[in-house]
Amino acid sequence: MNQQTIISKTAEFVEAKFKGEGSGHDWWHMYRVWQLARTLADEEPTANKLVTELGALLHDIADWKFHDDDEAGPKAARQWLESIAVAEDIIAQVEYIVRYSSWKGGTNKHAMKTIEGKIVQDADRLDAIGAIGIARVFAFGGMHDRPLYDPANKIKTYKTVAEAKQGIKDGTSVNHFYEKLLLLKDGMHTDAAKKLAEHRHAVMEQYLEEFYAEWDGQR
Ligand code: ADP
Ligand code: NI
Repeated sequence: MNQQTIISKTAEFVEAKFKGEGSGHDWWHMYRVWQLARTLADEEPTANKLVTELGALLHDIADWKFHDDDEAGPKAARQWLESIAVAEDIIAQVEYIVRYSSWKGGTNKHAMKTIEGKIVQDADRLDAIGAIGIARVFAFGGMHDRPLYDPANKIKTYKTVAEAKQGIKDGTSVNHFYEKLLLLKDGMHTDAAKKLAEHRHAVMEQYLEEFYAEWDGQR
């Protein structure tokens, strides 16, 4: 199977699995991360395009928030790629990306080592910020019955996966800006992502300023 066919078959597989998912991890998230990863890879000549695109498409194949087994994602990615007979060295590199790309409530301390992994992580985090990032936070909040905001609910950050999971139950959507979204800009790896993140970050800061002003009836 040629590279293009491997990529398009994987895109079809991921689309079928995530169609209609409502938590912000739907097919269109995978699609945007895939497209962003291609854009970022254009400026990183050493990146292997097949590994980058497969890593982007499969990075959320099993979500940490809904699985207790950390290996569920890497295993599912491997199983799929083996089923279409992808070469072992490519599978191992994709599996590495799937294992380590997630933010996990701020508890993922693994420093991504490969350029393809850095690109996928940048693309995934770019999709969490800016205009789309804002939309995703409130979509997620709605799905989990969380309030938009509560001035009495103090801003929190998390040290463990258990705390982060508890935070999903207790927190507000606005808290998510402080526990994650506003922290992402400074963790971008590639120069292209750093530039895009600056702009998306400014969009969120302006949005929050407006949000608080409207909350108190000032605008
Ligand atoms: P990752 O897959 O990198 O670990 P997450 O699954 O934590 O990232 O988050 C993906 C997106 O889902 C976030 O960027 C956000 O839009 C939404 N989301 C996740 N957790 C929360 C939360 N506690 N509150 C609001 N939105 C959330
Ligand atoms: Ni993602």
